[in-house]
Amino acid sequence: GGSELANVYDDALEKGFGLVASNIAEPNILMGLMEGAARADSDLLLQLSGGAATFAGNEDPVDGLKAMGTYIETIADQYDIGVFLNMDHQSDMEFIEAQMDLGIPSSIMIDASHEPFEENVATSRAVVEMKEEKDADVLVEAELGQIKGVEDEVEAEEAFYTDPEQAVEFVDRTGCDLLAISVGTQHGVAKGKDLELRPDLAGDIRQALRDHGLDTPLVLHGSSGVQPEQLQRMLQHGICKVNKDTRYQYEYTRTAYDLYREDPTNIVPPEGVDADRDTFFNDTDWSPNKDVFDPRV
Ligand code: G3H
Ligand code: ZN
Repeated sequence: GGSELANVYDDALEKGFGLVASNIAEPNILMGLMEGAARADSDLLLQLSGGAATFAGNEDPVDGLKAMGTYIETIADQYDIGVFLNMDHQSDMEFIEAQMDLGIPSSIMIDASHEPFEENVATSRAVVEMKEEKDADVLVEAELGQIKGVEDEVEAEEAFYTDPEQAVEFVDRTGCDLLAISVGTQHGVAKGKDLELRPDLAGDIRQALRDHGLDTPLVLHGSSGVQPEQLQRMLQHGICKVNKDTRYQYEYTRTAYDLYREDPTNIVPPEGVDADRDTFFNDTDWSPNKDVFDPRV
C-alpha cells in the first residue's frame, strides 16, 4: 500500500538512494525484474502505463490492471522483497478512480504536465482530493515541467525545465505526495545527444521545497541511459524515484531478437528474461554510497 511505500521513500531521502521504478507491459519483463531485485535484496517498484494496462486487458484497462495485479501479487508472494505497483503517466480520471477503488496500486501518477500551470494544478489537485475523499492508501505523483519524448498518452516536443519557486507553489496547492521534475532527461529509445542534465536544478528544487517545510520526494523520468555519475548527483539532490522503462525493454527484446537471428528455432523467452535480471542487478552498482549500500538505485 501507499503508506508502506512512503516509508521506503523516507528511507531513500535519509540515506540518499533512489528506488528504481520499472515499467512492465507484460509478464516476461516482470519476471526478469522480480528475480533481479530479489538477487539484489531490493524492494521493487513496478509501473504500468495506461497503454500497458489496456494491452494486458485486451482493450479494457481495468481488466488489465486486475490481471496484472493478480499476476504480480502471485509472483511477489514467492519472494521475500517488497513489491509495489505505480500507475505511470495517468490522465483518465475514470480509470484513476477505478484504480483507487480496486486498491491495487501503491501509487498513481497524474500527468497533466503538458497543460498550462493552472490546469495542471487543478487536475493534479482533483486526484489528491479523490484520494482524500476515498481515504485511499495510495500516493499521488504529479509532474511539473515537461520532459521531451513520447510516453504513451502524452507527447512533448520540447523540454521545459521545472522552476523551483513554481514547484513550491505546485506542491503546496496540489498536496501531491511526489513531484516529477524536468531536469533534462528525455523519454524513450531515441534520446537526443543534446541532453542537458541539470542535477543542480534538482538540488535547487529540493532546497526551495525544504525552505517551505516540504519534504516531497522528487522523481526522475526518462532515466534509461543516464550515466551512473550523473544519476548519483541526482540522488544526492532529493531524487528518490528513478523511472526506467527503455533499458529493460531493450535488453529483453534485443536478447530475444539476437537469439532468434542466430537460430530461428530459438523462440523461447527465458533468455530475454535472464538479460533483464542481469541488467537490473548490475544497475544496482549505481548506489551512491557503499557505506549505506542500498541496491535500490
Ligand atoms: O515513466 C517512465 C519513464 O519515464 C521511462 O523513461 O524509458 O526513458 O527510461 P525511459
Ligand atoms: Zn515517464
